[in-house]
Amino acid sequence: MSNILDAFKEKQTEERVYNGPKIKVGIIGCGWIAEAHANSFMKCEDVEIVALADIIPGKAEAFAKKCGIEGAKYYNSDRELIDNEKDIDAVTICTYNRQHAPCAIYALEHGVHVLLEKPMCVTLDEAVEICKAEKKSGKILSIGFQPRFDENMKMVKKICESGVLGKIYYIQTGGGRRMGIPTPFGTSFIQEDTAGLGALGDIGCYSLDMVLNAIGYPKPLTVTGFKAGLFGKKPEYLQKPEYTEVFGVDDFAAAYIRLENDIVLDFRIAWAMHCDTPGDTIIMGTEGGLRIPSTECWNGSIGGPMTIYHNIAGECVETVIPECENTEDNFDKKIRSFVDAIEFNLPTPVPSSQIIYNQAIIDGIARSSDLGREIEIEIPEI
Ligand SMILES: NC(=O)c1ccc[n+]([C@@H]2O[C@H](COP(=O)([O-])OP(=O)(O)OC[C@H]3O[C@@H](n4cnc5c(N)ncnc54)[C@H](O)[C@@H]3O)[C@@H](O)[C@H]2O)c1
Repeated sequence: MSNILDAFKEKQTEERVYNGPKIKVGIIGCGWIAEAHANSFMKCEDVEIVALADIIPGKAEAFAKKCGIEGAKYYNSDRELIDNEKDIDAVTICTYNRQHAPCAIYALEHGVHVLLEKPMCVTLDEAVEICKAEKKSGKILSIGFQPRFDENMKMVKKICESGVLGKIYYIQTGGGRRMGIPTPFGTSFIQEDTAGLGALGDIGCYSLDMVLNAIGYPKPLTVTGFKAGLFGKKPEYLQKPEYTEVFGVDDFAAAYIRLENDIVLDFRIAWAMHCDTPGDTIIMGTEGGLRIPSTECWNGSIGGPMTIYHNIAGECVETVIPECENTEDNFDKKIRSFVDAIEFNLPTPVPSSQIIYNQAIIDGIARSSDLGREIEIEIPEI
């Protein structure tokens, strides 16, 4: 019995002690999510936030004051920060999606470790350029998927890896909200020139990561995708009616993706819809099936206890997996894991070698939708 339970236990990590100088960090993009980054970095005694940048004049300074960051320098762009802060160790990139690639590439080219918010970027071409810059620099690039640190997400992965599901051949995933187009602090999520992607990039990347990470990120081969902006022109779906004038991204996407190892992935995501859910996440294998109750797909966890469906001695049996408790904040863990990777030269917490597949699927869905047919996913050698 203990052997079976051991399969689900996490390996103990050894205690590490860091005696080096404080890690000097810069924040690029001082908007909504930057506050969570600042708060988590400030909890690390071995980190100093030395610089902040935002292209809106005065925003970086006002942000620092609001967050209680003292002694930092302020800049009007990512480049100005990188060019002036010669001994900075790392930056965290909290800009809107369209600025992810240029900021990450510039920082890596200047020998700076990068924590890059999700989604990795907008297109696959951009992701390839980021990966090339990372490889050339030898620096750490981690992508900001804090649900990776959620205990329930870890359990999904442990279940898949334990072998209890047998050979996995079909996955259905996604999520959605009835009225959840994100415009709480302005329009950067809904404008084409800032976000580039709507629901597909914003929350689609999370549900893809949940299942792809669980099964070891197999390579995507083909995709038939659809995306559309169906609700963003309706004033009642946005914080302010005038936002309809700038809405230019998708609020719904669906796709059928073939992965290597004979696995198919059925995906749908919505910022708005006339339904409570577009379906639970289901991972089907030859020995068992896992149902993960859906959430609104923004908090990176599960919507209730998971169930494994299997057959024991010829009988259909269900095993309910109780929800796991998170004792630490997942955002704090995302930041801490990045700092630890720098200090102790550890493997990158959320590596680009995996997330490039996530981005390739997102890019494939967008391109297939534009072309109106299935496309092959081709990822060049990095
Ligand atoms: N991990 C999470 O839970 C989470 C949550 C929300 C948002 N995000 C991601 O974080 C990113 C930012 O989202 P947000 O809601 O904070 O957006 P936001 O629009 O509130 O903030 C982005 C800021 O970046 C600044 N900026 C843009 N280009 C810049 C540049 N080159 N140099 C310096 N500053 C620049 C903008 O002026 C703006 O102030 C998005 O990619 C989003 O997907 C992640």
